Amino acid sequence: MAKQRSKYVCRDCGHEALMWSGQCAGCSEWNTLDEVVVRATGKGSGVEGGGFGGRTSAAPARAIPLRDVESPREERLGTGIGELDRVLGGGLVPGSLVLLGGSPGIGKSTITSMALGNMAAAGRQVLYVTGEESTAQVRMRAKRLGAGALAVPALAETDLATVVASIEAERPDACVLDSVQTLHSAELSSAPGSVAQVREAANALMEVAKRNGTALILVGHVTKEGAVAGPRVLEHLVDCVLLFEGERERSYRTLRALKNRFGATSELGVFEMRSGGLVEVEDPSARFVGEATAAAGSVVLCAMEGTRPLLVEVQALVAPTEVVPPRRVANGIDRNRLAMILAVLSRHGGVGVGSADVFVNVAGGVRVDEPGADLAIALAVASAQRNEPLSDSAGKPLACFGEIGLTGELRYVAHAERRVAEALKFGLNPVMGPRIHDAPHGLETSATLRAALGVVRRGGRGSIARVA
Ligand code: TYD
Ligand code: MG
Repeated sequence: MAKQRSKYVCRDCGHEALMWSGQCAGCSEWNTLDEVVVRATGKGSGVEGGGFGGRTSAAPARAIPLRDVESPREERLGTGIGELDRVLGGGLVPGSLVLLGGSPGIGKSTITSMALGNMAAAGRQVLYVTGEESTAQVRMRAKRLGAGALAVPALAETDLATVVASIEAERPDACVLDSVQTLHSAELSSAPGSVAQVREAANALMEVAKRNGTALILVGHVTKEGAVAGPRVLEHLVDCVLLFEGERERSYRTLRALKNRFGATSELGVFEMRSGGLVEVEDPSARFVGEATAAAGSVVLCAMEGTRPLLVEVQALVAPTEVVPPRRVANGIDRNRLAMILAVLSRHGGVGVGSADVFVNVAGGVRVDEPGADLAIALAVASAQRNEPLSDSAGKPLACFGEIGLTGELRYVAHAERRVAEALKFGLNPVMGPRIHDAPHGLETSATLRAALGVVRRGGRGSIARVA
């Protein structure tokens, strides 16, 4: 066994110290020292040995042309959950590390239990390590999820060395660690969940996963700001970062990849939490359009989520207020984007909301992070402010998409045809959007926000000629 101890390294300047202190002796910054484990390097595995100081008489390694590198068989493990597999890029990759983040109660333990249950039923070796709940609690959840989930071997353990040894012994095809923040290495004096502990755990787990070809899912908490808690370095280390979002009180949940070394990052999976676990929503557009209201302040956005178009309802409420400055509340869209759109609306659209609270909400708890949402937000706010519904005579809500520039122009966004086609599929016709070359059938284009507002204004939207 190699001799082990720890040292403290400054995050900013790299200064090393043997004891922790509040201020770094190297750069005089406060609170920048992180504890790291030092392994007295014998013949190491090469993964953790390569520290700064240990430049010894190692023989140089030989580089080989990429064409001669053997490509590993890319055999993916299907999780039996279609939406999860799609977000992962076709299933779990053996030997890879996936970080699954999400706020408490969103369903991280549920989705991972279901995935392991499906894999167990398909004859795979699986392991569920729980650090937060007892095995009895995990069993209670599994009972709701069905026979597959009950077949999953579970281990309640927080000691890192024991967990690593268990994975080494069981050599599962897939293993879940719920959560990475509860793991604790006895070699470090800092508390579980600290930067040093989480980093150490992730490093040790990555090594054992690669060695055994185990696909590891690390469950992680998210901070109030929505970032995956723990050090940023964790996100760099893992192959894939998934974020599970949604409003706790509502039943819709969305799953998206923030990073994926084995697939696209823009795919979105939509689920609904039911009494028997998470159910995939295969046609989310149908759900969201069906729930859309035709009231003032409601607009349907033709969004693109990865390779698939998605119709979501954007709702706005504008209410006069005495509060200074007035409130700007954004759910499901970026706050700064909302501020920009409100500024353009007042400067170039003649819609001022300076003395009113503005609330904007994407219904269903979905988050849209694309500039194509601008026009929908602007029209929803304008409709709410004027208290004029944008629905047509048949009561169908207005569908639109497009980016808004700072000078009030409407800008092109990608996949116009697919957005329009999705809206037409649900009988939303016409669709308002930016000017584009070769405008697809059914698209009503405008060059500026002001022009778009004029079109929806002209005697209500019922007067827009329906494109036959
Ligand atoms: P959980 O997976 O424990 O969340 P996390 O691990 O992210 O903290 O799920 C928590 C919520 O999901 C809890 O409020 C109960 C609810 N739930 C259902 O509605 N149906 C179910 O079948 C299950 C297992 C949980
Ligand atoms: Mg949990």
